[in-house]
Amino acid sequence: MYANLNYFASGSHNNNNEYNFLEESAKRKLVPTHIENLSPYKPGRPTKELCQELGVKSFINLASNENSLGAPKGVSRAINKAISGIHCYPDALALDLRLALAQKYLVKPQNITVGSGSESIISNIIRTFLHGNNEVLTSEGTFVGVYLLVKANGSRLVTVPLKNYCFDLEAIADSINKNTKIIYLCNPNNPTGQIIGKDEFEQFIKKVPPHVLVILDEAYYEFACDYSYFPDSLNYRYDNVLTLRTFSKAYGLAGLRLGYGLAHECLIDYIHRIKLPFEPNTLAQVAGLAALKDTAYIERTVQNNAQGKEFLIKHFDALGIEHVPSYANFIMINLETEQRVKLTYEGLLRQGVVIRPLTAFGLPTCMRVTIGLPRENEKFVKALKKLI
Ligand SMILES: Cc1ncc(COP(=O)(O)O)c(C=O)c1O
Repeated sequence: MYANLNYFASGSHNNNNEYNFLEESAKRKLVPTHIENLSPYKPGRPTKELCQELGVKSFINLASNENSLGAPKGVSRAINKAISGIHCYPDALALDLRLALAQKYLVKPQNITVGSGSESIISNIIRTFLHGNNEVLTSEGTFVGVYLLVKANGSRLVTVPLKNYCFDLEAIADSINKNTKIIYLCNPNNPTGQIIGKDEFEQFIKKVPPHVLVILDEAYYEFACDYSYFPDSLNYRYDNVLTLRTFSKAYGLAGLRLGYGLAHECLIDYIHRIKLPFEPNTLAQVAGLAALKDTAYIERTVQNNAQGKEFLIKHFDALGIEHVPSYANFIMINLETEQRVKLTYEGLLRQGVVIRPLTAFGLPTCMRVTIGLPRENEKFVKALKKLI
């Protein structure tokens, strides 16, 4: 009866070293429909592969909102030191890192959860709190990772349109129903770069019932926090608000996978009941600790970003390209047609520059470019000028 499932025993491991998978009817019984219908996340293609395919010597990657300055200096030292201990499991409580974050934000370690990227924490929140008919309510044109995680959980995702490239909080509040369990807000928003203002947030949160959780994804917090009208969610301490931040963007540690969440200790306690015990790994934990100490690095990062933003905006204006004001380390441009997006993407690739088309985000006429180092921004502008 189970012969088909056992590819070793049945000998269905054929001569080409390929698996012979199940017939359609058996496959339908195996995989839940919501997984069958899911399209996996499409990351940018590896630059090594692109070099080979297009015959380009090297690429600059302005597609993933990473920090082109590279990791803070103390990180490699901390990692080298910790390497002798990697035959052991990580500290499951990540106590040193949680303590350091608690000191930074004037909270208790019990208010903090850490994970392999903030995306892992979003996944933990979904697995902890969503059940039955519970729905997640958010906007169109926001971080696609969330759409995927909700659908992968078999849960219903409800979205309202963006308003002038911003979260439409009135429409979101009006869409809360008896099944709404989580509201996801991204501030600043990826990919538009826009923010929800203080007044808007304060009006909105009054309309959210206490059993509805609000995820405030502040992955780009460090680039926006100096604006007086940016609502730093940690200043409010609502019992139903979970703040998410990451070491992947301003802190330059995307490859290590490290993010954290801050919330009431009861929420964190529930999340820790389902969290994989040994996330994040040892090297990510020590790297995070080292990165937190390097405040000068964050200042340099924010300064480089502000200068790069000014440079890019000047050139977009000169070229007549519509761009959206950004509070993050990227800028969204609107090229008005899908054909222009395709030609621009391909034309830039041929010149060794990768930026992000936003079809997957539901914005098919738009592209997002990460603000890089001066020489990267210059190379991008030079390549763009050749195409326009
Ligand atoms: C808004 C937002 N949230 C979360 C993430 C995921 O970050 P991490 O690398 O911490 O998983 C990203 C990454 O692009 C993002 O843009």
